[in-house]
Amino acid sequence: MTIRFRHAVVLAAAALAIAAPAASAQFTVSSPDSRTEVRVEIREGRLVYGVTRDHRALILPSLMGFEFRGAPALRDSLRTTGSSTRSYDTTWTQPWGEVARVRDHYRELRVSVIETAARGRKFDVVFRAFNDGVGFRYEVPAQPGLGDFEIQEELTEFALADDAKSWWIPSNRPRLDRSEMLYSSSPVSVIDSVQTPLTMATRDGKTALVIHEANLVNYARMNLRGGRMENRTLHTALAPWADGVKVRGRTPFVTPWRTVQLADRMADLAPSVIGLNLNPPNVIEETSWIKPMKYVGIWWGMHLNTMTWSSGPKHGATTANAKRYIDFAAANGLGGVLVEGWNTGWDGDWIQNRNAFSFTKSYPDYDLAEVAGYARAKGIHLIVHNETSGGIANYERQLDSAFSLYRRLGLDAIKSGYVTDTVDGGHSHYSQFMVNHYRRVIETAAKYGIMVDAHEPIHDTGERRTYPNMMSREGARGQEYNAWGGEGGNPPEHETNLFFTRLLAGPMDFTPGIFDILLESTGKAHRPEESRVRTTLAKQLALYVVLYSPLQMAADLPENYERKPAFQFIRDVAVDWDTTRVVDGKIGDYVIVARKQRGGPEWFLGAITDEEARTFDVPLSFLPKGQSYIAEIYADGPNANWLTNPLPVTITKRPVTSVSSLRVVLAPGGGQAVRIRPVP
Ligand code: NOJ
Ligand code: CA
Repeated sequence: MTIRFRHAVVLAAAALAIAAPAASAQFTVSSPDSRTEVRVEIREGRLVYGVTRDHRALILPSLMGFEFRGAPALRDSLRTTGSSTRSYDTTWTQPWGEVARVRDHYRELRVSVIETAARGRKFDVVFRAFNDGVGFRYEVPAQPGLGDFEIQEELTEFALADDAKSWWIPSNRPRLDRSEMLYSSSPVSVIDSVQTPLTMATRDGKTALVIHEANLVNYARMNLRGGRMENRTLHTALAPWADGVKVRGRTPFVTPWRTVQLADRMADLAPSVIGLNLNPPNVIEETSWIKPMKYVGIWWGMHLNTMTWSSGPKHGATTANAKRYIDFAAANGLGGVLVEGWNTGWDGDWIQNRNAFSFTKSYPDYDLAEVAGYARAKGIHLIVHNETSGGIANYERQLDSAFSLYRRLGLDAIKSGYVTDTVDGGHSHYSQFMVNHYRRVIETAAKYGIMVDAHEPIHDTGERRTYPNMMSREGARGQEYNAWGGEGGNPPEHETNLFFTRLLAGPMDFTPGIFDILLESTGKAHRPEESRVRTTLAKQLALYVVLYSPLQMAADLPENYERKPAFQFIRDVAVDWDTTRVVDGKIGDYVIVARKQRGGPEWFLGAITDEEARTFDVPLSFLPKGQSYIAEIYADGPNANWLTNPLPVTITKRPVTSVSSLRVVLAPGGGQAVRIRPVP
């Protein structure tokens, strides 16, 4: 039986209800390719799930349930009351993305559970087995024994069968409630407390796994805590409200999906779509105003200390400066200009003075309406900066008036900021309180026709499927750390880690494209001994292809791009893609990605390496057969080396077809960027 509703074809025929099975019953569901199997059962009164792939255990029977404040845990004396399965297969189109078309293909198992003890509380667990992994969530109906609740902890475990190697950033460090850290790697067994996406590789090299979550709505973000006794078991650790409660609510409720993405090779993890498939479809009817773009900004100067956010002689956001940046963007085919420090509130300590930020009132030397009109006349999107410093009430109070002002002025993009470790009220940055705040900003922005680029955000859980105005985020250590210098700079391997971890969650506003790698334009005034970018120039170009973002910054000062032939690549590179192919890659070592431009025939290739020099022969078999192309190659120049000689770039052109192979030679800390355009 096939039921059609909207564009989806739902194959519901497999649905079958099993009446009141014995307490020992097992329920299974397998992925459409039959390789991955989930098994759910009651063991000694507790609900557990496990996952196998090709009949090998990946996740051993792992606990499910909740601990509450003021009520007994929902964990023991459980019995299943029924189950059902169904299949689903549809393909949907993204308004923008790493790939245009996404197949959502799974088999689903729903198991209903009841407590045999006094309260008789009940809930369902729903598992979806995809070819690329497993998602599951709890669905708790309204019921007499469970109305208002305070979750003290979600008890979901991930008991890894293998002491897999893992790559992670820590979570819950005192006063370090943020994601701007360098990656470490370790066996899973020694994990203390980490953020997701958590990327792992089994020791036999057969499987790559990523634990993350999808559709985080009205709940707390999930971190993972290592087990002390049973040391390959990871426990859910939800981010708290200030009083330690994790989630407050009322039944009925559903949790976010917990996801375990699976692939045979790490290179097959990207582009990751399992999280998108577990979010509801787009609710914005008319999306033509949502536009991926490249942008420049009054921004890097502040990080270099040659300009200031605050008022004074070095104030960056002046009307004249903004017009200069707009002229530069227009002359170079870039879509947007970001202006930071335009609004009052930056003078003094902006964390202490968080409530002083106005989101409508500009400094006297910056005329918002005039700059907006100038940008509009030149076809440039002005990206309005909204730094909150964690002053959530102050920002929310102004949201409607600010966004309606921006809309009146024709401004359709904001970059938000939350530079603080704990927000108003002392809640975790990643708490339910903040999840709800970020969602309110996305929804309000959608209402006013505004695109969002969120810095210091909660991790991406696929919200962009439902709200495609949620474009990009930071949520990892970006380029800015290279400006600040000292220990804080990013090592050459950093971006090869990001690709296989943070970027699996969603786009990142990393802000590539620094050409003045040694920061000479600062007159070495800014921590001169240490400040620099640990890269070659060709690698900065390659990052436009490797690190996906629909808002892609040309981060350097415009003057550093003048008369630089390599800037042509930034002008040419696409920001929206039909197809993404990871040619090869190894976490922490190198990545080679090819992407086809959306709505056009061009391909782009980006290759980056860590501090090691590497050479690859890349077959261009991804190109359509029979078509002739010109490859415009931006390679590390003679003797290029991130440490000693970062600037040389050699630009060459050669004819290629789908049977050609490119020899890609990467310098230590280097990269290569290639535009492949059809011969006219
Ligand atoms: C941190 C953001 O990541 C950065 O881009 C911004 O310039 C500063 N905060 C100031 O808001
Ligand atoms: Ca930041």
